[in-house]
Amino acid sequence: MKKNLIVFGTRPEAIKMAPLIQKFLNNKNFDTKVCVTAQHREMLDQVLDFFEITPDFDLNIMRPNQNLYSLTATIIEKMKPVLEEVKPDYVYVHGDTTTSMAVGIAAFYSGAKICHVEAGLRTFDREYPFPEEFNRQLTGKIADYHFSPTELSKKNLLVENTKKENILVTGNTVIDALFYGIEKVNAENFKDEEIESLKTLLNFQKRIILVTGHRRENHGDGLINICAALKIIAEKNPDVQIIYPVHLNPNVVGPVNELLSGIENIHLVSPLAYPAFIWLMEKSYLIITDSGGIQEEAPSLGKPVLVTRTTTERPEAVDEGTVLLVGTDRARIVAETEKLLNNTEYYNAMSLLHNPYGDGKTSERIVNFIEQL
Ligand code: UD1
Ligand code: UDP
Repeated sequence: MKKNLIVFGTRPEAIKMAPLIQKFLNNKNFDTKVCVTAQHREMLDQVLDFFEITPDFDLNIMRPNQNLYSLTATIIEKMKPVLEEVKPDYVYVHGDTTTSMAVGIAAFYSGAKICHVEAGLRTFDREYPFPEEFNRQLTGKIADYHFSPTELSKKNLLVENTKKENILVTGNTVIDALFYGIEKVNAENFKDEEIESLKTLLNFQKRIILVTGHRRENHGDGLINICAALKIIAEKNPDVQIIYPVHLNPNVVGPVNELLSGIENIHLVSPLAYPAFIWLMEKSYLIITDSGGIQEEAPSLGKPVLVTRTTTERPEAVDEGTVLLVGTDRARIVAETEKLLNNTEYYNAMSLLHNPYGDGKTSERIVNFIEQL
């Protein structure tokens, strides 16, 4: 029996690895263990609860306002005993976090084969996004097998001389997770306290603008500009309401609370667990975000996305016209938001229900590929 070790640490990795874990745990040809670094704590645990995942190992490394140096060093060091105990044939890492990169290095030292899920996303600019572009390039270098969401991400890997036979275009597991989540949330007997409190908080006569933001390169001026734009949008458009589940990073939660508290039609709330968040995405009119995962999910729900970044490693939905890069210039954010609020034809054109990132069968393709090795 082949031994798998699936490792992740942050909220988006957990959401995107959950469907793969479910598939592997149901496959008798594999002995699959799950390890969380817990680079995130509360935001990770929310996901583990919803997908009913109990990790076999929990490195519990998160510290308040942690830095990249200690994060990287601690993960590599704490992975050693786990790798020595499990002796995996395959180690799975996801995307571009510091967990993915550091676990990739540790797995390489252990001699395991490294499988990179969501492989080949690139801006080809090491500074944007920082440190994610570096993390994913390095993980791509270390990985033995690459599961690319799209043809474009495969092409990016080929440019870097990755062996063609070790790349598989699979779609993105984020869509597998979304389909699972939507079905569970819409089931008749599903009850969720967060959703109930959102129903009380929000006025469904007003259109909802959903906002998130956390990128390191937006900390400081970028985030201040985004908040200023949101304030202008809220004041000029009393018929809309903005809801912002604020990421727990102190560099985000501090400025956002300071700049946006006490405005009548802006609701600042704690990070929502995945079911409440996807429920809220469905109820929203448009989304303003710098999140990677949300850019991928929103087209499946027919929601236009304004991305508060100037580059993206996910150009597919931009090309399809459902996602628009607006950067962090406050006038541009206000103008693009008001265009979507006031021009129905334009809004409808951006609300296409077509998703270039997957069909919900990504995990199945990954399991089949590994089974055939
Ligand atoms: C991390 C990833 C980023 C990913 C993002 C998803 C790196 C370098 N960054 O950024 O790629 O897009 O997660 O959200 O890998 N915190 C809590 N509780 C939590 C989570 C975070 O208190 O559940 C606070 C802590 O003070 C922590 C800080 O946020 O030290 C920063 O967390 P960290 O994972 O270093 O950075 P993120 O900005 O979350
Ligand atoms: N998400 C969530 N609760 C929130 C905000 C986001 O469950 O309050 C989910 C969202 O649906 C998506 C993922 O978290 O699947 C995105 O995570 P994040 O924006 O933190 O990271 P990124 O995708 O930018 O790496």
